[in-house]
Amino acid sequence: MPRHTRDVSVRGSRDQAPSSNRRRKPEPWYSLSRKPMNIIHVENLIKKFGTITAVDNIQLNVESGQMFGFLGPNGAGKSTTIKILATLLRPTAGKAVVAGFDVLTNPNEVRRSIGLVFQDQSLDDRLTAQENLWFHAMLYDLPSSVFVERANDVLRLVDLLDRRHSLVRTFSGGMKRRLEIARGLLHHPKVLFLDEPTLGLDPQTRNAIWKHVKELREEKGTTIFMTTHYMEEAEHCDRIAVIDHGKIQAVDSPAMLKRMIGGDKIIVSGDEALADDIKKAYNVEVQKIGNDVHFQMAAGAEFVPRLVSDLAGRIKSIQVKEPSLEDVFLRLTGHSIRVQEGSSLDQLRQAAQLWRRR
Ligand SMILES: Nc1ncnc2c1ncn2[C@@H]1O[C@H](COP(=O)(O)OP(=O)(O)O)[C@@H](O)[C@H]1O
Ligand SMILES: [Mg+2]
Repeated sequence: MPRHTRDVSVRGSRDQAPSSNRRRKPEPWYSLSRKPMNIIHVENLIKKFGTITAVDNIQLNVESGQMFGFLGPNGAGKSTTIKILATLLRPTAGKAVVAGFDVLTNPNEVRRSIGLVFQDQSLDDRLTAQENLWFHAMLYDLPSSVFVERANDVLRLVDLLDRRHSLVRTFSGGMKRRLEIARGLLHHPKVLFLDEPTLGLDPQTRNAIWKHVKELREEKGTTIFMTTHYMEEAEHCDRIAVIDHGKIQAVDSPAMLKRMIGGDKIIVSGDEALADDIKKAYNVEVQKIGNDVHFQMAAGAEFVPRLVSDLAGRIKSIQVKEPSLEDVFLRLTGHSIRVQEGSSLDQLRQAAQLWRRR
């Protein structure tokens, strides 16, 4: 049912005399018993650049209020997908609906419903933080009567309120990124798209950006759709889509994805025959890496005493590790996210971004 019909029915039930329709009160559209709305819906989406298939027939649903992550190496198709969802690129085929609007038939409504923070820095260095926000407010027809309050609100959220009158060229890379996030929120978007929001920033600044993004999600309920190739960052998301060569390999919460690995990673070092003996004794796949033997075992910590008593005197060291998203990526794609380098064009572009953000 279209949203406006529901609004009318709710308003109607309030305006009428309370006794007239008490028995058949319609369920309001915001009822908690409803399933959360899919604020992003993607069906059979394809994007080709000549012979390159950058986005290869992806399906996707993102629930309202979620922090959703697109995790994949350079060149996987993350930015291309985000650009299609943000109406900046037309898909070759397929359908994408954002905040209830089709990106092809209602691009203006989609644009009004979203905020964008892209990989490439887009602030005007010669203006102050507040002037940059003002420029954005004009583009979005934000009334000047609400501007100051809104600007203060978003600047406070990213901890830049006291620097609002400073020129952007005096800002560090992290401050510029935070200002871009604030700007993306100024018109109260339903969905905020963040394409590699922490690329090229130092670990401390990256943590600060995450703290702000989480706060804004909690405070405003904004749906966050972000891309990253940093495994640790994908851990912040409610759900992750693992993408490689334009194809989605899996979509789930970080915990469920790790469960797919089927146990903890155990790393043992000892004598030469250890790998074969472990393989036979516990019927597991083993990998020899240097002097270490790697294998997976459910409830690894509880398994260690048994291993020590079975192989008394032969073990030099044991490590038990919970599976990481790196392990998940390796399992899904057969290669590590780190070793795969992007195309030389991607590398050049990233190098340029790092240079600008210093
Ligand atoms: N405008 C373009 N013209 C040609 N090829 C492109 C263009 N944009 C992206 N590509 C290619 O599409 C693939 C996906 O790129 P992209 O979506 O930027 O990946 P990611 O953001 O995951 O690093 C890459 O092979 C990239 O080189
Ligand atoms: Mg990208």
